[in-house]
Amino acid sequence: MTVPPRPLARADKVSLWRYMKLFRSDILSAQPAKLYRAWMAEFKTPFFHSYMVNDPALLKLVLKERSDDFPKSDRISAGLRPLLGNSVFLTNGEVWKRQRRIIDPAFEGGRLRDTFPAIWAAGEAAVARLAPMADNTPREIEAVTSHAAADVIFRTLFSIPIEHKIAAQVFDQFRDYQRTQPILNLAAFIRGPRWMPRFFKRETKQTARSIRALINRLVTDRQAAIETGNGPDDLATKIMTTPDPKTGERFSNDEMVDQVAIFFLAGHETSASALAWTLYLLALYPDWQDKVVQEAVGMTADFSRLSTLKATRDVFREALRLYPPVPMMVREATKPEVFRKRAVKSGAQIVLSPWHLHRHERLWLNPDAFDPARWNTDAGRASSRHAYMPFSNGPRVCTGAGFAMIEGVVLLAQLLKAYRFEVVVGKTPMPVAHLTVRAKDGIWLRFVPRE
Ligand code: HEM
Repeated sequence: MTVPPRPLARADKVSLWRYMKLFRSDILSAQPAKLYRAWMAEFKTPFFHSYMVNDPALLKLVLKERSDDFPKSDRISAGLRPLLGNSVFLTNGEVWKRQRRIIDPAFEGGRLRDTFPAIWAAGEAAVARLAPMADNTPREIEAVTSHAAADVIFRTLFSIPIEHKIAAQVFDQFRDYQRTQPILNLAAFIRGPRWMPRFFKRETKQTARSIRALINRLVTDRQAAIETGNGPDDLATKIMTTPDPKTGERFSNDEMVDQVAIFFLAGHETSASALAWTLYLLALYPDWQDKVVQEAVGMTADFSRLSTLKATRDVFREALRLYPPVPMMVREATKPEVFRKRAVKSGAQIVLSPWHLHRHERLWLNPDAFDPARWNTDAGRASSRHAYMPFSNGPRVCTGAGFAMIEGVVLLAQLLKAYRFEVVVGKTPMPVAHLTVRAKDGIWLRFVPRE
């Protein structure tokens, strides 16, 4: 049975110079193979001191039980500040809590049902966009899923499609931004003077300003529409009209710009990565593709039928296990701790790695195999309870987790119903951690219409 691609881990012992070189080129292959078996590992170099944690009890401690004591690491956040300002993704403490109180209601179950028609419409648009490419020529599929996921965000947030003038500009400029500012970069880990993060490349700052100006126009227009009672019933209106249950305050327009920037960034890059890898896996395992198609044939634009897409959901979950779009997260210890009998100093970086956890040899059966059926076994369910966190866990869990599960399953069903996907011989995608887990030279597939 073919095992889907994964980067080769490095040897357990390498020189510091080699480690830094690997780290700079790709954080996944820079890690030693033993991390797929270890409960915890300490990394001590002259530049950084961090602990990677795979032990489920420690993960629970850091993410759930004492999450306030392990805030987001400033070093990682710094690179994103010019674009994201004070968005919920970067803040900590009381500011973050207040932001979640205002945002969370928009993503609760009932509201998700309301976003379904917009997600479905984006799926139909993606199917139509693919039509001229469906001629069995190898196509890079990450670009396709990125476009589709961006469309989903604009339709659900602002009731506009990606072809809308401002939406299209935001989408293009985000691409430029990501080229100049990767989320997981080496610099982020290296301790520098406090002022260092403020020195961003000029180009990065300019792009960030321009994206924020575009989003500001959308938010200002929406505020005006809300005031005249004409705000469309979508996520933006919901968030902008929700008062904080504690203080009664709403988001100011500036704060809303910060949040929209993160919804777009966190919401489209991640979903695009997940969809692209899932399509690749379905091309690699045609039996599973057939199962998804069987379900998809009966699917209509009816939210209540979503529960019938069981195999599709299992496939998507399995893809999120093997290729978690957010491969690693970093927290900071705010006081001295003892982890597995080892002293952890205040200020240490705590790395939580869905990538390693999801492939942990002591926590999963056949961790590297693609096996969506595992989700219906006792062993699979047990592993998922303590070793599965594509959306993180605890109070800081991804706001859009429920949304992303609907989006993923619906778009897959629509795309698979319309097209048959096949791998391209000689073009096996190799995962690398960019902003999200992407393929080194893209994900190439061929596809043709089913009828
Ligand atoms: C497959 C798709 C997605 C994956 C795998 C994913 C994963 C994650 C992960 C792992 C985090 C935690 C990061 C950390 O703590 O460092 C996160 C946070 C977040 N995600 Fe997602 N996400 C997805 C889709 C979305 C969507 C569609 C939205 C919004 C529309 C969204 C909005 C957010 C926000 C606002 C946060 C910050 C939450 C906080 O810090 O309180 N995500 N996501």
